[in-house]
Amino acid sequence: MDEEKKRLAEATLDQIAREVSVCQRCMLHHSRKLAVPGEGPVDSEIMFIGEGPGFHENEQGRPFVGAAGKYLEELLAKINLHREQVFIGNVVKCRPPNNRDPLPDELAACSDYLERQIQVINPKVIVTLGRYSMARFLPNAKISDVHGQSFRIKGRLVVPMFHPAAALHQPSLKISVERDFAHLPELISKADESPIVKEEKPPENKSEPTQLSLF
Ligand code: URA
Ligand code: SF4
Repeated sequence: MDEEKKRLAEATLDQIAREVSVCQRCMLHHSRKLAVPGEGPVDSEIMFIGEGPGFHENEQGRPFVGAAGKYLEELLAKINLHREQVFIGNVVKCRPPNNRDPLPDELAACSDYLERQIQVINPKVIVTLGRYSMARFLPNAKISDVHGQSFRIKGRLVVPMFHPAAALHQPSLKISVERDFAHLPELISKADESPIVKEEKPPENKSEPTQLSLF
């Protein structure tokens, strides 16, 4: 990305973050302390997308800063990456009360922010962490079947992985997530030419319900 393009792209990311910080599109804005737009370089080749902010993220307004975040940093370190080198975000930007699962209408309401972030960053590889993030790209997939595989979706590789918070407490998932992470550098380096494991139809954009014409 040349400097001028990068400056514009950064301004767009900042703009999205500002909108998120005051967003009231879904109920989650009532209980949030700080929205968590996500963070990382605008020219990241890889984006990690988790589920939603937890307690610590809600306090600090930053993604993956609690126990799951510490583990994510360890996983990144094993492949010589630091969190500052990658974009890290979530499918919902505000903390669900008591860390409950995000609801379909909340996912739909928040979807456009992530979509715009993906458009601006234009990563080669998107790693989804956990079921909700995976479902955005691979609505019918089962994480236990597809984790670690790459799917070409809208020209990008999408690689579903188990959520680090789940892996932290389940030794079998930990082995899987570490193995899947170990393959990431190879996937990134071959992203442009990589063999297509499976071609999936992109999910429908649930944030844009069918418009009924009034005219
Ligand atoms: N878990 C997530 O899915 N996202 C975060 O930002 C933190 C924990
Ligand atoms: Fe807005 Fe997303 Fe927060 Fe809901 S979760 S209030 S849609 S930023």
